Amino acid sequence: MERVFKIYVYEEGEAPIFHNGPCRSIYSTEGRFINEMEIGNRFRTRDPNKAHVYFMPFSVVVMVQYLYEQGANDMNAIGYTIADYVDTISRKHPYWNRSLGSDHFMLSCHDWGPYSSSYVPLLFKNSIRVLCNANTSEGFNPLKDAALPEINLKTGEITGLLGGPPPSERSVLAFFAGGSHGHIRHLLFDQWKEKDPDIRVYEKLPSHISYEWMLKNSKFCLCPSGYEVASPRVVEAIYAECVPVLISDSYVLPFSDVLNWKKFSVVVAVEDIGNIKKILMGISEAKYMKMQKRVKQVQRHFVVNGPPKRYDLFHMLVHSVWLRRLNLRLHASM
Ligand SMILES: *[C@@H]1O[C@H](CO)[C@@H](O)[C@H](O)[C@H]1NC(C)=O
Ligand SMILES: *[C@@H]1O[C@H](CO)[C@@H](O)[C@H](O)[C@H]1NC(C)=O
Repeated sequence: MERVFKIYVYEEGEAPIFHNGPCRSIYSTEGRFINEMEIGNRFRTRDPNKAHVYFMPFSVVVMVQYLYEQGANDMNAIGYTIADYVDTISRKHPYWNRSLGSDHFMLSCHDWGPYSSSYVPLLFKNSIRVLCNANTSEGFNPLKDAALPEINLKTGEITGLLGGPPPSERSVLAFFAGGSHGHIRHLLFDQWKEKDPDIRVYEKLPSHISYEWMLKNSKFCLCPSGYEVASPRVVEAIYAECVPVLISDSYVLPFSDVLNWKKFSVVVAVEDIGNIKKILMGISEAKYMKMQKRVKQVQRHFVVNGPPKRYDLFHMLVHSVWLRRLNLRLHASM
């Protein structure tokens, strides 16, 4: 992949909506990727005839900021902007029509990424959509779409987030703190909110307790879906070397083509939320040690570097797109 894969970045459209995106806060992975492609790297080609895939560098997060009227609950302006954009590139260049969009990709971490892509049926149906909100019940198709990790970079830096004490020094069995949004979190709070000394679940963390300390001193970190399937807690846990406990429905995990999540996380079905303690206590010390070691091994695949390093988040995303592009060729030759 590193030697041959070439990505063309469309030049149409103007910043801030195009060629730009947020590099900090909860949607940071959207801006980081767009900006990385804009800066240029070994994968970017300026010659569209040499490209294997075509990147459409628009930011749904920025569109929401500029085009969405607060409270209006109307996504038309965003959807029509994307539709106009695809119309423009498909008139100006031969590549969209040639594949009906299937060798094109978009990337968005915003909750509305999937819905706004539906304003262009071919984009929704054919193109590679790299999305945080990888909800199979909302049309996410893991054969052609790829899951984008959600990473909450509060300061824009990862300094201090990586690493933590060894398992023997982690005194808390399981930890979660976060808002009560979405039905999965309601169920979690009903059962566990501030009820058990081992399952430390908070809606609001008391001010004398540090969130980062809890992540780094827990054996397991609970990652329930909120309003949307993705949760930044998955990567927070991996950064803090805490074994993630995934509680979601219809969520396709990032990089699941190449990472075997079962080996370094615990999946708890929504209907088993009441059994979390029993499930976690039932994991032997030896098994836990193995899982935690693997969390440390996969950590580098989620790390954001500027400039990117081999096997880091940026490379994993490019690799996810590459795999889907390969599938496309296989399908075409069948
Ligand atoms: C692609 O197809 C559209 C719709 O059929 C058409 O309007 C457009 O001119 C075509 N683009 C090119 C470059 O031929
Ligand atoms: C996934 O999509 C379905 C269908 O729109 C929705 O009902 C469900 O709430 C979504 N899941 C989450 C966690 O948002």
